[in-house]
Amino acid sequence: MTSDITEAAAWRKLHEHHGAIAGRHLREYFAEDPERGRDLVIEVGDLRIDYSKHRVTRETLALLVELAREAEVPARREAMFRGEHINTSENRAVEHIALRLPAGESLMVDGADAGAEVHEVLRRMGVFTDALRSGQWRGATGERITTVVNIGIGGSDLGPVMVHRALRHYADAGIEARFVSNVDPADMVAALRGLDPARTLFIVASKTFSTLETLTNATAARRWLVAALGEAAVAKHFVAVSTNAERVAAFGIDTANMFGFWDWVGGRYSVDSAIGLSVMATVGKERFAEFLAGMHTVDRHFATAPLEANAPVLLGLLGVWYSNFFGAQSRAVLPYSNDLARFPAYLQQLTMESNGKSVRADGSPVRTSTGEIFWGEPGTNGQHAFYQLLHQGTWLVPADFLGFAAPTDDLPTADGTGSMHDLLMSNLFAQTKVLAFGKTAEEIAAEGTDPKLVPHKVMPGNRPSTTILAPKLTPSVVGQLIALYEHQVFVEGAIWGIDSFDQWGVELGKQQALALAPLLTSAEDPAPLDDSSTDALIRWYRAHR
Ligand code: F6P
Repeated sequence: MTSDITEAAAWRKLHEHHGAIAGRHLREYFAEDPERGRDLVIEVGDLRIDYSKHRVTRETLALLVELAREAEVPARREAMFRGEHINTSENRAVEHIALRLPAGESLMVDGADAGAEVHEVLRRMGVFTDALRSGQWRGATGERITTVVNIGIGGSDLGPVMVHRALRHYADAGIEARFVSNVDPADMVAALRGLDPARTLFIVASKTFSTLETLTNATAARRWLVAALGEAAVAKHFVAVSTNAERVAAFGIDTANMFGFWDWVGGRYSVDSAIGLSVMATVGKERFAEFLAGMHTVDRHFATAPLEANAPVLLGLLGVWYSNFFGAQSRAVLPYSNDLARFPAYLQQLTMESNGKSVRADGSPVRTSTGEIFWGEPGTNGQHAFYQLLHQGTWLVPADFLGFAAPTDDLPTADGTGSMHDLLMSNLFAQTKVLAFGKTAEEIAAEGTDPKLVPHKVMPGNRPSTTILAPKLTPSVVGQLIALYEHQVFVEGAIWGIDSFDQWGVELGKQQALALAPLLTSAEDPAPLDDSSTDALIRWYRAHR
């Protein structure tokens, strides 16, 4: 599709259709179609995805699928799976799907067999993490490694942080993982607190190995280690994950202890590459393989399921439906699992760095809003914070609820008769029900409520949500969830005609920070800056630091 999506026939039809159904209520949809809650469900791998509480009719869904066809989503998807350079602004293939191919399956990318290369790196990661976990790999003084500290930022941090936390119950070798990302020294100082250098291994994770925050933190970590154990200890206490062997060597890390990946893996799509080394160190290569297999299950579904029954396609289309036709700006992600507390933050980079674009792949301005704003907190904490706005505010905020049949931990309820996990899940079900169906003024008045309070208590309902359930938060399920969102991002980007795989918008800030840094501390008063606000802010900082 070369023309703008707003010119598609399906787009125009969707506009008309939206006009016709926007005023209708989910209560009506469920009353008219009692089977809706059982029909509008897709099962993929272990995931049960209920999309019945969305403001769509079967006609809406058909039109959205028509839109995907007009936007040539299937052709774009196949181009990705074939290894074509669909990241056009960086002239790169986009092959995170190759990271989870089963052993023996090949995929040619830029003339090399990506499948074989991936499995060679996985093999090396397995050998290394086996040695760490068994105690065969020792620190410079002969001690076992008991803590790995991952130093990285963005995609080199958020994925490992999130997956590590999600799989904390699978950490079975006495290795703890900590994470440092921010160039705020408080982050490093807090992460090192209580650590014994002799038992600590640093994983410097950076695709480019040029990221200021990571190199600054890695240097600080190195000083901390060398101060305690001497220069010769670095080889046993530092490994690197990167695509750039030259820079790794220049930093002083032996490239024999480097785990590589490729420029066809975007940073925010890299937790399943060697960037996941800290996760593999804590849970082991077998659990990591299950995590990859979970992703592959969803990849196969995305590649082969008909569009009408394709979960990432439908969920991506629903994202477009609310963003572009209802004017929704954001999507809440609400995991009813404390172990998924960092999932919303992980998705923020995945979705917003991918689809926060104002020009189409050909450089022309987009004519629609793009890039849903993702945010969220685990239930039930969010219920006591921002759900008020979700229920009664003026914004329409579609929400994704995530929950599990089996708990990762459980305790009895206050009266000792029930399970706290059941209580947690009853909250999830209650929230999706209240968001969808609300409570009318008549129902509230019928309860004898003071008439003056009735308008305050009205719950409008008609607020859409997806509910994603799985039996348990396993490595495979975490992989399935990640791939489900990765492919939604793909679908939305394909509809909007943007390049979802570059991130030029983060560059200028990096350059400006480097240019401004000397002005903060220079002995001489700096020359006035070209804008009075930044100039005054820096002068204030100089006076007060
Ligand atoms: O913030 C921009 C970005 O390039 C992200 O896309 C990336 O995940 C992050 O920086 C870290 O990059 P690197 O892994 O090269 O250090």
